[in-house]
Parts: sequence; structure tokens; C-alpha cells
Amino acid sequence: MSARTRLVLGIETSCDETAVSVVDATDDVESPTVLSDVIASQIRLHAPHGGVVPELASRQHLVDLPLVCAEALSRAGVTLEDVSGIAVTSGPGLVGALLVGVSFAKSLALATGIPFVGVHHLDGHVRAAFLRAADGTRAGHEPEEPYVALIVSGGHTSLFRVERDGFRRRYVEVARTLDDAAGEAFDKVGKLAGLGYPAGPVIDRLARVYQGDRVDFPRARIKVDGGRAVTRLGFSFSGIKTSVRQHLATTSMPQLLPGEDPATRPDLLGVLAGFQECGVAMLLSPTMHVLRTQGLRHLVAVGGVSCNTLLRSELAAACQREGVTLVIPSPRWSTDNGAMIAAAGALRLAAGDRDGLDLEADPSARLATAA
Ligand code: KG4
Ligand code: ZN
Repeated sequence: MSARTRLVLGIETSCDETAVSVVDATDDVESPTVLSDVIASQIRLHAPHGGVVPELASRQHLVDLPLVCAEALSRAGVTLEDVSGIAVTSGPGLVGALLVGVSFAKSLALATGIPFVGVHHLDGHVRAAFLRAADGTRAGHEPEEPYVALIVSGGHTSLFRVERDGFRRRYVEVARTLDDAAGEAFDKVGKLAGLGYPAGPVIDRLARVYQGDRVDFPRARIKVDGGRAVTRLGFSFSGIKTSVRQHLATTSMPQLLPGEDPATRPDLLGVLAGFQECGVAMLLSPTMHVLRTQGLRHLVAVGGVSCNTLLRSELAAACQREGVTLVIPSPRWSTDNGAMIAAAGALRLAAGDRDGLDLEADPSARLATAA
């Protein structure tokens, strides 16, 4: 048995990445050290279809998961006997994809007797912000007081108020998207423009170097009256997608052709850069509003879209202006990975939680009750 007494294996298969990691939570369960972090991405499998095909995703997880798991243990320099806990994403996500990870984790737990827990995917994303790299560096530490978590991914766009209670975290959802998630909007707009899947990173890269005019798209401002006196803020990204589609149609702007160099298409770059600017502004404004109105001074921004260069710089500038501390994980841990699941599992295990073999994959699991 290793001197490191709290090694947690994290398994993530909720969408199109098969990811397994071993983290060491012995010294700091809130900021565990990542010993290994292996990801088999299915992007090339799904790209020809313009999005994730659930059936293909589950089948590929089945093929890849045992290999990715063996590789994660080997890179961490440990064996299964050294592991003290197993964590697996049990929801939300694609049900077939989740089932592969959950069944695999159950088999490992049954065969070895190692305690295991199901983890909420978004809890994992938040815990990614506090992961420690092997060299000891980390994006930041978890604030002691309640903080705001902005979760922006391909499937989710929400703001949570996060409260601490020992090893447990209480998530109160204070805003969510009423329609598309921000990452979904990036991917759909990219598809309209003729970019491959996923388009978010491509739009980011193209807009970063583009210096010309940008199309000024209208910004959605959403206030949802919950039926009571409370007015909640929300996000909406379906309007901007429609605006982009209409703009392309009314200007008869052709898509980027296969093999065409985007640099020769300033018309399209102006659309993409304008869309990104608008999308980022629509993420920023409710986030800063919630911090202000709730009197909170700490923000954690996570999920695939938090890789976006413009969103990162705009959030940093706004937080600095308003005296808010900001923690954003490195891009490697902003998108789906196994380390974030291991980190969330480490906290749950430390709190004494255990799941049984009756744990079910829950494709629409909720993290919190609405505020
Ligand atoms: O968190 P994630 O890996 O998976 C989900 O849980 O959904 O997020 C994937 C999403 C995709 O929609 C992708 O286009 C978007 O994150 N994304 C980005 C960037 N990198 C990834 N969107 C904008 N800018 C980026 N740099
Ligand atoms: Zn995710």
C-alpha cells in the first residue's frame, strides 16, 4: 500500500471524451494533485456527422475505456490496489455513454471492494478549477466564502452560487440558459459558416487574429419572472444563432469551402468575430450582475467555453474593475477530463458518501434546486 492514502480514480464518459485520471488527495482534498490524466477524444469519429452521434459515442467508450484506464494507472505509477476510491460521472449526459462509465466503475468496485461514488458532471467542472498540476501549480484555491460559478460548456450555461459546508458543496442555480448552451451556439454558428465540429476553438482562433470590421449582432437581455416577486436572470443563445443565419442568407454569403483559407474570407471572419463578441458579452453581463446583486466577491469560470480567449480576457478585466477574484482552470481542465471527476469524487468520499451497485446513470441529473 502506498504512503499516499487518498488516491482517487476518476472516470468520465458522459459525452465524446473517454477520460480517466488518478489524483492524489492525501494532503489537500480540495486541491488534489493530478498524477495522470488520459483522454481518448472521439472528435474525429463525430466530426463527419457535424455533432456527437450518441450510438457511436457509447460504442467507442466501450472500446477505449479499459485501455484509457490502464494507461491512467500506469502513467500515475500505481496499480488498482493503491487506489482508495473510484469516482464516475453518473449524469447528466448521453445515457448510453454514461452507462459505459457507470457499469465499468461498478465492476471495478465489485471486483476490488474499493468504495465508489457517482459524480455530477457539473460538480466535476467546478472542481477542475482547483486541481493542482504535478509541479504543484494551480489556477487558484477555493474561496472560503460563497462564490459564483459560471459553467459554460457544450451542454450547459448556468450560474451557481456555491456554498461550503465542510466537505460538502451546496449549489444554488441563480441563472441558466433558456434555450441553447453557449458552446452549442458556437458549434451551430460554426456549422452555418462551414467550419468543422467542434467549432468553438476554431472561431476563437480565427477571431483572435482578425483585425477588420465585425458584424454587430443584437444582444439578448433576459429577465425571467419566476412567478413570484423574484426576477431571475437568464441566458439565451438561440436568437443570435438565428441572427447569424439571417445575416448569411440576406447577404448571400457563402460558407467556407473545404480547403478554402479563412484568411481570404474577411466577410465571414467579420461575422464570426461579431458573433463571438456578442456571445461573450451575453455571458459577461449576467455574471457580473449576479456577483453585484448577491454581494459576492469570487468567481470561478469553468467548462469548455471558458477556454475562449476573449471570454477569459473580458472576465479578467471585469473582475479586476469590480474587485472580484477570478479562478479559471487551464484550458486542459476546462474541457471534459477525468481529473475533475476524481476531484469531485475525492470530496464526496471525504464527506463519507458511498454509492452502491444500484447507482444509475441519470441523463438529466440536476445539480441544484433553482434559487
Ligand atoms: O465542457 P466541454 O468539453 O463538454 C461539455 O460538457 O459540453 O465543452 C465543449 C464545448 C464545445 O461546444 C466547444 O465548441 C466549446 O466547448 N469550446 C469553445 C472553446 N473551446 C471549446 N468555445 C469557444 N471558444 C473556445 N476556445
Ligand atoms: Zn463537460
